[in-house]
Amino acid sequence: MKRIYLNEQASIPILGFGTWQLAGEAARKPLEVALSVGYRHFDTAAAYDNHEVLGEVLKRSGLKREELFVTSKIWRDDLKARDVVAACEEALEELQMPYIDLYLIHWPNREIPIGETLEAMGKLKEDGLIKAIGVSNFTIRHLEEAMKTGIEISNNQVELHPSFNQNELESYCDRHHISLTAYSPVGQGQDLKLPKVQTLAKKYSRSESEIILAWLRQKNIIAIPRSKDPDHILENFKSLDFDLETADLQLMEDIPQERRMINPSFAEFAE
Ligand SMILES: NC(=O)c1ccc[n+]([C@@H]2O[C@H](COP(=O)([O-])OP(=O)(O)OC[C@H]3O[C@@H](n4cnc5c(N)ncnc54)[C@H](OP(=O)(O)O)[C@@H]3O)[C@@H](O)[C@H]2O)c1
Repeated sequence: MKRIYLNEQASIPILGFGTWQLAGEAARKPLEVALSVGYRHFDTAAAYDNHEVLGEVLKRSGLKREELFVTSKIWRDDLKARDVVAACEEALEELQMPYIDLYLIHWPNREIPIGETLEAMGKLKEDGLIKAIGVSNFTIRHLEEAMKTGIEISNNQVELHPSFNQNELESYCDRHHISLTAYSPVGQGQDLKLPKVQTLAKKYSRSESEIILAWLRQKNIIAIPRSKDPDHILENFKSLDFDLETADLQLMEDIPQERRMINPSFAEFAE
């Protein structure tokens, strides 16, 4: 599978498996199916309540740790230095792993200086507990502030799908060598209904989801679709084996843009 460079130590498979809303035991079967069809990159978070089951499923797979890629995230209340260390240690214990490949700040929190959080994450990286440092739900303003610390930010995970393509943030991240991960890549199912996506699905005899995931891959954007349906899990993985023509990639860019879907009360998007 194509991988995207994160830093000298790590690269991330372009397609991963999302696990939000698959809490506890509900995650087990989808994770087993995902592993069996070939996913090796899993996206979790302290807030998803599935570290333990993910750790168990991965351990039972018999795969070596270096064959797998795990992203996890620190919740926004745990961004003080001491809490960052404790959150990472807890996550590693739950996951039963010696390290996390990519560790993200789940949401920015204006109450806690970003330098304090990133320095603590830098120390985790030095100690080998994480391989790469990233952020999530960061706007250009947040990234500018974060980059002033001089600590390497390897990834920004944000809402990104055809009707919310984040083109401006994408170019900014490109210029600053920050890889981008698309969360809610199929717009939580809503973007599967877009007429242009449906037309392309017919043209290529592929599902709407495959069209979207191929488009993201061809833009070098990492995607982490979530599904509990074995057919969908397989279908999403099959998006890896075909390409859209250049003109069709452009058609995808021309899709009218809507408002973001994920905007909790604590989000800092408006500032
Ligand atoms: N960093 C953050 O703040 C943040 C926020 C949101 C999400 N995320 C991450 O991103 C992942 C994905 O985002 P998401 O869960 O919001 O949304 P998503 O992956 O865009 O959409 C999930 C929905 O799409 C459906 N679906 C998936 N593949 C399909 C297919 N091939 N055909 C038809 N329907 C399909 C699923 O239903 P079925 O189960 O029926 O297939 C599910 O209802 C999350 O699980 C999480 O890991 C991160």
